[in-house]
Amino acid sequence: MKIAVIGTGYVGLVSGTCFAEWGNEVACVDMNAEKILGLRRGKLPIYEPGLDELVERNYAEGRLSFTTDIAKAVKDAAAVFIAVGTPSRPGHGDADLSFIYMAAKEIAPLLAENAVVVVKSTVPVGTGDAVEKIIAVKRRRGTFSVASNPEFLREGVAIRDFLEPDRVVIGVADERAREVLMEIYGAPLAQVDAPIVVAKRRTSELIKYASNAFLATKITFINELADLCEQVGTDVEELALGMGLDKRIGASFLNAGPGYGGSCFPKDTLALLRTAQDHGVALRIVQETASANEARKRRMALKVMDAIGGNIDGLTIAVLGLTFKPDTDDMREAPSVPLIETLQRFGAIVRAHDPVGMENAARMLENVELLEDPYECARGADAVVIVTDWDSIQNLDLVRLRRTMRSPVLVDLRGAFKAGLAEEAGFHVSAIGRPALRPVELSPGFPDTRYRLPGASEASGRVLGGRYDH
Ligand code: UDX
Repeated sequence: MKIAVIGTGYVGLVSGTCFAEWGNEVACVDMNAEKILGLRRGKLPIYEPGLDELVERNYAEGRLSFTTDIAKAVKDAAAVFIAVGTPSRPGHGDADLSFIYMAAKEIAPLLAENAVVVVKSTVPVGTGDAVEKIIAVKRRRGTFSVASNPEFLREGVAIRDFLEPDRVVIGVADERAREVLMEIYGAPLAQVDAPIVVAKRRTSELIKYASNAFLATKITFINELADLCEQVGTDVEELALGMGLDKRIGASFLNAGPGYGGSCFPKDTLALLRTAQDHGVALRIVQETASANEARKRRMALKVMDAIGGNIDGLTIAVLGLTFKPDTDDMREAPSVPLIETLQRFGAIVRAHDPVGMENAARMLENVELLEDPYECARGADAVVIVTDWDSIQNLDLVRLRRTMRSPVLVDLRGAFKAGLAEEAGFHVSAIGRPALRPVELSPGFPDTRYRLPGASEASGRVLGGRYDH
């Protein structure tokens, strides 16, 4: 099928490339000529594991093209996906739909007979209706349909999320739209046994917001329980393990941390709240989630200060991990930013390291020395703070890290190190969701096993967890 994708941001690029991977002929359109030229040369505007190879192959095999010429891309496409940004309007919280409406106006006179316009961007309920009206006024010929098909891609694993999704949601208002979307998704999803939910267009739009708000709430729930764990001497990881095995709860999104960030959860919860307000409905749980998360991100600096003993004026703090989560270079709403700014306000000298995100971080942070080498970053520091649990950070040699530092304080905001591990390396650890343990004195001949994990050999049946209590 001939498909046009408007917008080569995160969603547009991943979606367009995966549609091509399924054998469709896809033209990705963007008004940014520099971006299009870069893409033609294989230079991707985002970091997403596996995407570069997929783009290269589908481009080389002629199924995927990049253009600024919207008319050419749209004129004989059976489906035109709109995947432009819907940022929060400053000071409002509701989604800015100007890019969506602009795209709708532009494609309206260009659409082929019976073309299906599919809104992939995250948009408030009723946006499909508005797009339909805009196109109806501007179009020159023939019939058309407008559908909704929200994305649920997580940065870092977006390709797998697209090719092997838990589900695909399509929202349609007529049979033609259903047919075209089923033609695109039906066979590939049958192969991976993934269901397609066919819903009304407005329901489909809401499913996206409701899903993100629910996940954001789940994270906030475990974050608050982590605070309680610290006070009552329990471990949030054990708690999450015990809860998550209940199929009704589910184990994912129960990792406590410094608060959620990224391009979706913060923005989408606010936009959902605006929609609810506009319709006189109080979504109190979502409201609490959004404000608890903001407060949490700001509070993380206090946790660092507590770990150091209060006054951080003139002290050097090394922050490891800057992006809002691992496997992305995305810094949007990253908890590292308010953390660093607050530490600086209290007089700390902040150094930082991230394996991929430093270029983006440099644009957002001031007076922070960014270092390629995590050990160099920690050299002479009074504390190291883990903000993003990249594999490379979790695999650091903790003894080597401690030896470079002036004072052995480690604040683990991600549970990057199993309880006891950093203590064994001689660190004083302050971690999310567990009480502080005393560091182990590493005296030769007196191995201290207080924090050791039990050996694999003692397994009897399917035993999960199992740290010694102390
Ligand atoms: C999210 C949704 O998962 C995806 O379906 C939607 O389409 C876009 O938004 P993304 O923002 O890429 O994806 O990241 P995600 O993996 O969901 O994480 C979001 C934030 O929550 C990150 O800051 C992450 O660190 C945090 N998080 C996630 C936790 O703190 N704990 C968890 O258990 C899971």
